[in-house]
Amino acid sequence: MESAAIQGGVAPRIRAAVDGLPPYSAGRSVRDAAADGGEVRELLGLAANEGPYGPFPSAIAAAQGQLERANLYPESGFRSLRVALATRLGVDVESVAVGAGGIGLIHHLSVALLDEGDNIVLCTPTFHAYALDARKQGATAFSAPVRADGSYDLGAMLALIDDRTRIVYVCNPNNPTGAIVHREELLEFVGSVPEEVTIVVDEAYFEYARFASYPDTILDPAFRRRNLVTLRTFSKAYGLAGLRVAYLVGSKDIVAAVQKVQSNYEVSSVAQSAALASLGDDVELARRVRLNSEGREELRSGLSRLGFEPYESHANFVYVRVGDARAFAKSLEAEGVIVRPGNAMGDPYSVRITVGTPAQVKATVAALERVASAQHTG
Ligand SMILES: Cc1ncc(COP(=O)(O)O)c(C=O)c1O
Repeated sequence: MESAAIQGGVAPRIRAAVDGLPPYSAGRSVRDAAADGGEVRELLGLAANEGPYGPFPSAIAAAQGQLERANLYPESGFRSLRVALATRLGVDVESVAVGAGGIGLIHHLSVALLDEGDNIVLCTPTFHAYALDARKQGATAFSAPVRADGSYDLGAMLALIDDRTRIVYVCNPNNPTGAIVHREELLEFVGSVPEEVTIVVDEAYFEYARFASYPDTILDPAFRRRNLVTLRTFSKAYGLAGLRVAYLVGSKDIVAAVQKVQSNYEVSSVAQSAALASLGDDVELARRVRLNSEGREELRSGLSRLGFEPYESHANFVYVRVGDARAFAKSLEAEGVIVRPGNAMGDPYSVRITVGTPAQVKATVAALERVASAQHTG
C-alpha cells in the first residue's frame, strides 16, 4: 500500500515554545550512516560518548533474567535501585530519584522548575539538552563562554543570574571539552548563588574523572545544600546507554517534584536490574576507567603529533579545534570514523572524539593521520 501523509482539517495547536524548537540533535551513529544508504563498510561510531565495552557481564545476566518477566510492570517508584544507590552514596532514599537517562532527568527538572519567562544560566559549548529543555518551558538560556581550558566560567555565570533565574547548570566534566572545575572554586560558587536558584551539577562522566581536586558533590558534605542537585548516569562508564537509566541526588523537595513529573514506570525492569547489578562490580568499573584514561592519552598524543592542540580531558572523549568542524567530521567519516562536530553544542570549529577500545583508538589515530595528510597535500 502506498504511504500517505495525514493532512486536511485544522492543524493541531502546538504550544509556540515547542513549535519553534529545533529537533533533538543526537550524535550521528553507525546505524544513521547505514540508513543513509552509503556503501556497506566497517564504521567506527565515536560520536556519542558511549562506553565501548558493552554492559558489565553481571548486568547482562541480570537483564536477561528480567526479560523473561517483561510481561510484568517494573517495580513502582524504582525503590530497590534507589535504596541501593542511597546505601552506596550515604544519603537517604528520599534524596535519590531515578529516571530514563540523564536526558530524562534534565527534562523533569526543567518541567518542575521552569515557568515561561524564567531563565537558566550555563556556559557554551556544553551539553545542548539544558537549553533545549528550558526552551520547551518557554524559558531562555543565558550563556557565558567557557574558560580557555574548556571549563565552566563560574564567575561569569554569577554575573548572569537575575531574579528570573531558576537553574544554573555546571557540567563537570564539561561535555564537549572534557574540562573540570575544581572543588574550591565550585564551593565558592555554590556559596554565592542565591538560595532560591537550583544548582544542577551534571556529573555524567564522574567515574572517569580521577583528579585530586575534582569534587564529589554527593560524598563531600560541604556540597549538601537544599538547592544543589547532582546528576549521574549509567550510560557512560557502566555501558548501559541503550537501556536508559540515570539518577540524581538532591534535597527531598526536588526529588519529590521530579517524581511527581515523571512516569512511575519510565525506567524498565530490565534497565533497573542491569543498573543494580552494575553497582556491585567496582573491579570491572575500575578496569574500564583505567583503559579509558590510557586510550584518552594515546588519542591526545596522536592528535598532538599531527599538530593539533587537544584539550586536556577528564572524561571519555577528547575535544579538539579543527577549523570547519562539519567538513572535518565528514572527511573522517570517509576514513571510517564518525565523530561529533561541536555545532549543536555552540562551537562550529571543533570536534569531539569518543575514546574507544585500544584497537579503536589506534584506528582513530590512523584515520586522523590520513585526513591530516590529505589536508596537507590537498
Ligand atoms: C553532560 C551530559 N549529561 C547528561 C547526558 C545524558 O546521558 P543519558 O541520558 O544517556 O543518561 C549526557 C550524554 O551524553 C551528557 O553528555
